[in-house]
Amino acid sequence: MAELPTTYKAIEHALDQANVVKAMLGLKPVTKKLRNPEPDELLLQMGAASINPSDIAFLQGNYQIRKRVPAVPGIEDSGKIVATGQLLDAKKWLGKRVSCFSQQNKDGCWAEYFYAKPGEVLLTDERLDAAQVTTFFVNSFTAWGLCEIALQRESKAIVVNAAGSRLASFLYQLASMHQIEVIGVVRKQSTAELLKASGWKHVLLENSTAFSAQLKTLAHKLLANTAFDAVGGPATRNLLNAMPADSEIVIYDGLSNKFLSAIDLLGMIFENKMITGFNLNDWMAETDSLTFETAQNTLTEIILTSKIKNAVQAAFPLTEIKTALKTYLGNMSAGKVILTF
Ligand SMILES: NC(=O)c1ccc[n+]([C@@H]2O[C@H](COP(=O)([O-])OP(=O)(O)OC[C@H]3O[C@@H](n4cnc5c(N)ncnc54)[C@H](OP(=O)(O)O)[C@@H]3O)[C@@H](O)[C@H]2O)c1
Repeated sequence: MAELPTTYKAIEHALDQANVVKAMLGLKPVTKKLRNPEPDELLLQMGAASINPSDIAFLQGNYQIRKRVPAVPGIEDSGKIVATGQLLDAKKWLGKRVSCFSQQNKDGCWAEYFYAKPGEVLLTDERLDAAQVTTFFVNSFTAWGLCEIALQRESKAIVVNAAGSRLASFLYQLASMHQIEVIGVVRKQSTAELLKASGWKHVLLENSTAFSAQLKTLAHKLLANTAFDAVGGPATRNLLNAMPADSEIVIYDGLSNKFLSAIDLLGMIFENKMITGFNLNDWMAETDSLTFETAQNTLTEIILTSKIKNAVQAAFPLTEIKTALKTYLGNMSAGKVILTF
């Protein structure tokens, strides 16, 4: 630890606030003491951290991980390993660049240094640039897990809402590799145009008056029997109603912050429609190392061959966290906003 500083800068979140603006205003820079890693910990010097919808949910007190506040937010990042706990193989880890996904009840990665467990990091391909390493873990693997569901269900087509997201772009790419058609649902005309310009054939605007009828017609015509729903609330009902019999709606977030309601029970009872959930943590726990490695290698190649990249719209220093959050919330479909250190 000789060459390491004794303190580091971080952003702290003091109080969960349902109102996202209030939550943002409550963030403040702090200085923390750098300690030696615990025997099973890696110490990362952070390269960058991404801002994801899960971070916003965390600040609002709506995420599955609740930390005792004040706490450092931040779930996904990249960094270099600068120290290892004594139980870990220093040769394997020291000096390596990693992508990190943290789900523990401890300080997160909006900080210059971060203590990670080996299961939270991925050694990444040297050829990936810094922005891609920072945004590699969460969305691409989730898209992989979702695509596995579509394959298991032998879907000819899938429906994806919040389709302007990074995750949806990976899912589109993976589904296309398996000749699965994708019906994208978005809430802004500008996002629909972006997707069409990048090759999406079927994009629907969820707030147009013709939406329900269009979705129903297309989902039946293309035999879309799986829908991936990041929005929840009324969106889930709309998907369920529009999908053919034997369809499954897989909910993987609730961006609308609304409860499910007015679900067509008859559809569930007599048409065998169902609603399930997906979360990356469980997928990782259930996935064997060979499948995981195949996913990582394939996703890396997809990025390297530029079939799809995690678009990054802006980067801000950690101290400009509020501007970074405002930029991201102002246009999420424009790409990730990352924090640099
Ligand atoms: N379950 C899991 O394990 C898991 C893992 C990873 C990600 N996720 C979820 O996957 C989703 C995509 O993540 P990402 O990082 O790829 O997102 P992203 O690139 O940051 O984009 C977010 C997208 O969500 C759209 N959106 C936000 N609020 C919406 C609403 N109320 N109704 C409709 N669309 C809305 C945005 O559209 P606008 O531009 O119109 O705002 C934007 O296209 C997120 O919900 C995330 O939490 C879940």
